[in-house]
Order: sequence, then C-alpha cells, then structure tokens
Amino acid sequence: MSATQSGQIPPVITIDGPSGSGKGTVAFRMAQELQWPILDSGAIYRVLGLAVHRANIDPTNPDNVGEIVQLAESLPLTFEAEPETGEVVAVLDGEAVGDLIRSDEAGVRASEVAKIPEVRTALLQRQRDFRKFPGLIADGRDMGTIVFADAPVKIFLTASAETRANRRFEQLKQKGIDASLCALLESIKARDERDRTRTVAPLVPAEGAFVVDSSNLSIDEVFSQVFEYSKKVLGM
Ligand code: C5P
Repeated sequence: MSATQSGQIPPVITIDGPSGSGKGTVAFRMAQELQWPILDSGAIYRVLGLAVHRANIDPTNPDNVGEIVQLAESLPLTFEAEPETGEVVAVLDGEAVGDLIRSDEAGVRASEVAKIPEVRTALLQRQRDFRKFPGLIADGRDMGTIVFADAPVKIFLTASAETRANRRFEQLKQKGIDASLCALLESIKARDERDRTRTVAPLVPAEGAFVVDSSNLSIDEVFSQVFEYSKKVLGM
C-alpha cells in the first residue's frame, strides 16, 4: 500500500494543460464535489508577473533574474475566500488583485517570469505547502511533472488552439469586452510555444497522466470523465 493510500500523505489530483483547455473549470468542480481546496498555481505566476511589472523590472533581461527571484521569495501573496460568494481571490500585500491578473497581458507577463528556472525553484515550496488533508486539487502546467510528481492522480487536459481561442472570445464577449479572435489565436499560440519549449518544466503530460482532449466535448463530459477516473484511482 502506498503512503497516500495508507493516509500518511494527503492525496493530490493534478490537473495540467494549456489555458483554455477547461482545466480551471474542471478543477473548480472537482474541488466542489470532493470538498477539497484548489491550488491555482497560474495565479501565483500571474501575481508575480504583476509585482515585477509594478517594480518596473524587465523580466526578459537576464541581468534582472536575481531581483525577480528576491521578489518571488518574499512575495506577500495570500489567497482569501470572498465572504459572500466563497470565491477564492489572490491578495497581494492587502490588495485583492483577482481581476487585475486575469487579463491576457497578465498572462503574458506570467509566462515571462515562469520561464526563468530560478523563479520556478523559488516558488516550489510555496506551492507544496498547499498539500493538506483531506486532499488538494492542483491546477497548472507542471503540477504532475514537478511540483507534485508523486500525486496519485494526474490529469492532462488539452484542446486545439482554435477551440481555446473561441472559448476565450466568448468569455470576453459575455463580459462585454471587445476582442479580436485572430489576435487571441495568435496570442494563445505564442504563449503555448513559450510554455512548451522552455527549458524548465515545459508543458507536457506527466508520465501516466489521464489525457482528455476537450475540443469536441462539453465541460460536463470532461468533468465526468475526470471525476470518474479520479474516484476509481483513489478507491472512492
Ligand atoms: O494557468 P494560467 O493561464 O493562469 O497561467 C499563466 C501562465 O503562468 C502560463 O502561461 C504559464 O506560463 C505559467 N504557469 C506555469 N506553471 C504553472 C502555472 C502557470 O509556468 N504551474
């Protein structure tokens, strides 16, 4: 019997994949169903990207790595539940930055700091500290490959770049935000390229991951496949 099965180590369900693959929604529903907390690791990189931007540091200049690592190590970031909705928001030094970090620009900044190896190392323990009983849903790019490489359940969600651009377009339209589908597709492809080809923690499925291509599936179908698989593996 593994340590996880015998109850010594809290179980983790890792959900990795590119943005727009539906992993955020699936992670949220899994967390609701199991009553486990979520680690939104992308939010950590997004908040760091924001802090770096506010400090006027250019993340693409290698001379600035030391300064960015220092910021990563001391980042005054907490996640707090909204009293009314229960929604968990990122709080940077007392300021709720949930909305600020959701823009596409914030995503680009996140991926620029995320490709720096020393930054990833600096953020490792902060992420691992989220692992507590009864269990954790970990949403990101390298949850199953690096951060929780020993997780008993690893999921990898994918979808074509076109599908993901369309989803993002619809999301923005619903919020009343004007966007160009063409520009969104280009930006998604560029970010994918950066995430997939970086030297550390590239976006790839973990060994043994349950891979679901959500291009032609509804979110309900994706969720039910992931949920059934996870219950089976965890013996629930
Ligand atoms: O998931 P989300 O779109 O919020 O992530 C923003 C960016 O943060 C990603 O494009 C990726 O570059 C980076 N990221 C990462 N590792 C994670 C989560 C996010 O490199 N575990």
